[in-house]
Amino acid sequence: MILVTGGAGFIGANFVIDWLTEGNEPVVNLDKLTYAGNLENLRPLQGDARHVFVQGDIGDRAVVDALLQQYRPRAIINFAAESHVDRSIHGPAEFIQTNVVGTFQLLEAVRAHWSQLPADEQAAFRFLHVSTDEVYGSLGAADPAFSEATPYAPNSPYSASKAASDHLVRAYHHTYGLPVLTTNCSNNYGPLQFPEKLIPLVIHNALAGRPLPIYGDGSNVRDWLYVGDHCSAIRRVLEAGRVGETYNIGGCNEKTNLEVVNALCAMLDERHPESPVMPHASLIAFVKDRPGHDRRYAIDARKIERELGWVPSETFESGIRKTVAWYLDNQDWVAHVTSGEYRNWVSRNYADHPA
Ligand code: NAD
Ligand code: DAU
Repeated sequence: MILVTGGAGFIGANFVIDWLTEGNEPVVNLDKLTYAGNLENLRPLQGDARHVFVQGDIGDRAVVDALLQQYRPRAIINFAAESHVDRSIHGPAEFIQTNVVGTFQLLEAVRAHWSQLPADEQAAFRFLHVSTDEVYGSLGAADPAFSEATPYAPNSPYSASKAASDHLVRAYHHTYGLPVLTTNCSNNYGPLQFPEKLIPLVIHNALAGRPLPIYGDGSNVRDWLYVGDHCSAIRRVLEAGRVGETYNIGGCNEKTNLEVVNALCAMLDERHPESPVMPHASLIAFVKDRPGHDRRYAIDARKIERELGWVPSETFESGIRKTVAWYLDNQDWVAHVTSGEYRNWVSRNYADHPA
C-alpha cells in the first residue's frame, strides 16, 4: 500500500480518488484537517475498504512511526502543506511549522523506518515530495521557462518554506540514500479547490454577484494545469522516475490573470445567461497588489516528457469548462467550505487589498 499525506486537501483528495479509480492498491491517508482539509472531498470513497483515513500531523513522530510500523507502505507521497501565498504573508509561522519542521519530522520518521527494512524493500521504497514551481522565483517576459536546473530564488514565505522542504528531501537522499523523488508543479485548478485561490474564488464571487478582485493590473502570468493531469504526472514519476531526480510538471498554458478571469466570466455568461449580473466581467475590480507578487511563472516540462513520456491531456479550454461545470454542480460543497473561518479570511485578506 501507499501512504499519502494531505490527502483531504485539493490535490491530495483528487490524487487519492484517481489512484483508487486507476488501480486497487490501498491508501493510508494522513491529514491534519486544517481549514483546507475536508473529509467531504473524500465522499466518493466512503465505505471503500481500500482507503484508510487517519487524522494527524506529519510532524507528530508518534503518529507517523505507528502508521509506518502498522501499514509498511511501499511509498509515501507528501502533499501535506500550508499552500496559500496570501496566508503566508499574513502569518508565516504555520508555513514554517508544517512545510519545514513537519517535512523534517516526516523525513526523520521515514528514514528510521526505511533503514531497518530488508534490502529488497529498501531498494523498492520511494518518498515522493510534491512541490511547486514557486521555488524558482519570478520570470521576466522574455526569460526561458523554469527547468530543473533553474536556481532556487523563492520570494514569499510560502515558497521559501517549500524550497526549504525540497532541500531537506534532497539532503536525505544525498546523505542517507533515502530513495526520494521531487516534483515541482505549476498552478493547478479543478474540482475541490478551496475558494481562496484565484479560479474558484472568481467562480464563487461571480455566482454571488460580488466583485472579482484582481491584484495590480492583472498582467501577472501563471502556467495553468488541470489537477487530473498533475495526478497522472505524479503516478508516472512514482512508477518510473529516477531516484534522487526532480521533475517539473506544467501545462504549457501561460495566461495572464486577466485572461483567466475573462475566460471564466465568458463561460459563466454562457452557462448562466439568466444571471442578474450579465456580463460577469462587469464585476472585475482591480485592487491593491499582493506584496512581492511574482510576475511570471512558466514551466519547461520537457524532462518529464522525454524521460517518462508524460504530457497533459487537458487543454486550458477543456479543463476550465470541466471546472466551471463542477462548481456549478457542487454549490453545496462551496457553501459548506465558505462558512466560519473562510469568511474571517476574506475580511482579513481583502481589507489589505482596497480598490
Ligand atoms: P491544500 O491547502 O488544498 O491542502 C493541503 C492539505 O494538507 C489539507 O488537507 C490540510 O489539512 C493538510 N495539512 C496541512 N498541514 C498538515 C500537517 N501538518 N499534517 C498533515 N496534513 C496537513 O493544498 P493543495 O493545493 O492541495 O496542495 C497540495 C500540495 O501541492 C502542497 O504541498 C502544495 O505546496 C503543492 N502544490 C500545489 C499547487 C497548487 O496549485 N495548488 C501547485 C504545485 C504544488
Ligand atoms: O505555482 C504553483 C502555486 O500556485 C502553488 O504552489 C500554490 O500552492 C498555489 O496557491 C498557487 O499560487 P499562486 O499565488 O499563483 O495562486 P493564487 O490562486 O493565490 O493566485 C493566482 C494569481 O492570481 C496570482 O498572480 C495572484 C492573483 N490573484 C489571486 C487572488 C487570490 C488575484 O489577482 N486576486 C485574488 O483574489
